[in-house]
Amino acid sequence: MTESSANSMWGGRFAGGVDAIMEAINASIGFDRRLYAQDIAGSRAHAAMLAAQGILTEADARAINTGLDQVKAEIEGGSFPFRTDLEDIHMNIEARLKDIIGEPAGRLHTARSRNDQVAVDFRLWVREQCDAAIEGIEALMRAFLAQAEAGADWVMPGFTHLQTAQPVTWGHHMLAYVEMLARDRGRFIDARARMNECPLGAAALAGTSFPIDREATAQALGFDRPTANSLDSVSDRDFALEFLGAASICAMHLSRFAEELVIWSSAQFRFVRLSDAFTTGSSIMPQKKNPDAAELLRAKLGRILGANVALFTVMKGLALTYSKDMQEDKEQVFDAADNLMLGLAAMTGMVKDMIANRDALAQAAAAGFSTATDLADWLVRALNLPFRDAHHVTGSLVKMAEDAGIDLPDLTLAQMQSVHPGITEAVFDVLGVENSVRSRMSYGGTAPERVRAQVARWQEAL
Ligand code: ARG
Repeated sequence: MTESSANSMWGGRFAGGVDAIMEAINASIGFDRRLYAQDIAGSRAHAAMLAAQGILTEADARAINTGLDQVKAEIEGGSFPFRTDLEDIHMNIEARLKDIIGEPAGRLHTARSRNDQVAVDFRLWVREQCDAAIEGIEALMRAFLAQAEAGADWVMPGFTHLQTAQPVTWGHHMLAYVEMLARDRGRFIDARARMNECPLGAAALAGTSFPIDREATAQALGFDRPTANSLDSVSDRDFALEFLGAASICAMHLSRFAEELVIWSSAQFRFVRLSDAFTTGSSIMPQKKNPDAAELLRAKLGRILGANVALFTVMKGLALTYSKDMQEDKEQVFDAADNLMLGLAAMTGMVKDMIANRDALAQAAAAGFSTATDLADWLVRALNLPFRDAHHVTGSLVKMAEDAGIDLPDLTLAQMQSVHPGITEAVFDVLGVENSVRSRMSYGGTAPERVRAQVARWQEAL
């Protein structure tokens, strides 16, 4: 057994020190140092409140504030003496504060526990990440919007089952992602609003006998109000789970466009050209331009959703209130947040830079009998056929064209009339992809006119 001396924070009850392995498994300072700014902000708010309530002298509060200035400067300057034996950021800062200002440092923890301290620090951190996510998402929305505006009427194939379905417009496809991202943004906004209650003052779990002013600390830290139940305050990590949930859905959206980019940038599709800035070459195959950033973005959901599952599993079945299990919350959220922000930035860069190959898009739009539905619709409108019959007639025409190795518009009128005698020359108007997309004027449809209206709506909204 390797023993160090008894912990200075609670040494009173402890005769011996902890095992080195215990120190290693117990410590969170290796990662929770990222909460230093939030921890200091929480302590400042707490000290100011204690002084205002007459629990702490003004002189002590001033000393604490000045000492925290120095602590912050040391951490940011890289000279702060982080100690694993002091477990976490909370005790590291308090111990250093004691070195700097002496006795008043020991008064800072009055009416507070590390349980409400970590709850408030982490909430502040996650709240900031919500803001960063919202900002990152908006930047990406603007990038998609610029693509949509430029290509409101460029035709491309729309897919179901990754099989050519019906022609759509480039702008419409880009706007689909704007819609997804808008929902993502909404989820972060909602989560932020719900988490914006201050747990500081819940103390260990039961509240405190000191006459604290929780409204004051809540307000000082930018919260809407204090949390209403002290037990819930120290045992709740919903805010982190909601963040991870919103991040997972957002990352899932990014992974879908990433996959489209991988497909679209291939030599077989040539729908887009990705910029050199977001691709790599091959050390052996000179012709290669690999969509590495897109592939990594496709993968990021794996770890972000992994973090979500990990934290759910940590929280599942935990009896109230705080348990040390909950220390496992931070690394997951840190990693997920870092990767979400990086992913949003990388996707924004790729979308800004990507160049659509209009010719390839148009060619592909016309291939694969993409206007078969337009033909069926025409049979309904012009010949008053029931849609099911029109579907059948169109199917026969598609088969005829396929057998002949040609596209639908290349069939002669006579060939068409051999399938249904009522068909007239007018049918050829609907077989062109341009006409096809122009006709999709239903609200939310792909017609360029509709796309332009949606672009204008989003430009105004952003
Ligand atoms: N490092 C701890 C955590 O991240 C802080 C709270 C510790 N509380 C306690 N009662 N041991 O969860």
